[in-house]
Amino acid sequence: MEKLLERIIAECRQFIPQGHVATYIPELANVDPNQIGICVNLEDGKEYTAGDFQVPFTMQSVVKPLILLQALMDSGIDAVRALVGVEATGKPFDAFNYSDQALTGAHINPMINTGAIALCTLIRGETYEEKFSRLLELTRRLADNPSLCVDEAVYRSEKMTGNKNRALAYMLKAYGMIEDPVEDILDCYFRACSITVNCRDLARIGHIFAKHGVHPETWEHLFPAEYARYVNATMATCGMYDGSGEFALTVGFPAKSGVGGGIMSAVSQRMGIGVYAPALDKHGNSVAGVQALAKLSQELGLSIY
Ligand code: DON
Repeated sequence: MEKLLERIIAECRQFIPQGHVATYIPELANVDPNQIGICVNLEDGKEYTAGDFQVPFTMQSVVKPLILLQALMDSGIDAVRALVGVEATGKPFDAFNYSDQALTGAHINPMINTGAIALCTLIRGETYEEKFSRLLELTRRLADNPSLCVDEAVYRSEKMTGNKNRALAYMLKAYGMIEDPVEDILDCYFRACSITVNCRDLARIGHIFAKHGVHPETWEHLFPAEYARYVNATMATCGMYDGSGEFALTVGFPAKSGVGGGIMSAVSQRMGIGVYAPALDKHGNSVAGVQALAKLSQELGLSIY
């Protein structure tokens, strides 16, 4: 496996120049685009790695499955379905072009910005600091990594410049989908996006979703299988935004990307995969990361379709 991963990483380096690091969050523009790493987490927690698998990066939208999971654990499926639903948008992660039906009929999807911002309100906690702490603790627990924390520079950078998310959040407020102060909710969302992980963390988290909430080493039931089904189904249909159909065709398993360059994948009952390569395509998905997953899927026959 390690040899296979090394070969895949070597072959996929050639795709890096096709992409660009995110610059709309100024701090992310400083990241070296030439990095690429992978980690596969298999049965009994056996790990295989290659390339820049230890390099830390911010989760960005890879945190959305965790926001969804925390909202499900704290408020239940009915409340989550009523607020964000499950329907894919087929649109960019920060799109404004919503139909009125989407904004009143639970069609905003948990894997895009508006859905994740709205779901922060369904996390339990007296304050948004408390809600964020619960989310960070859940992320640490699933990654088996108590040292995960926020990259303060990236957090401040997005908080200063995140006016598109402010506009999206005020739109949610105008349509009565959120009630709390927009800045409080966004603070929780921006902090969540700035949690720093590496490929191993993502592979471990992905494996627990693949195992439907069961820890692959300890067999502890961490959350109900129906919550994993909700997360995996929305990752499969909208986890790569308006690149989700192409990804289903060429890769073929649930995954979530982030503009930090990470992708977390959950291959049902088989493995979790974390990849990192910060040069992004036009959808905001890691160019070389998607190629690496496509190769791995072909070599090991991982597509579920
Ligand atoms: O809200 C934002 O714009 C970022 N913090 C996260 C967006 C993102 O990662 C989109 N994914 N590819």
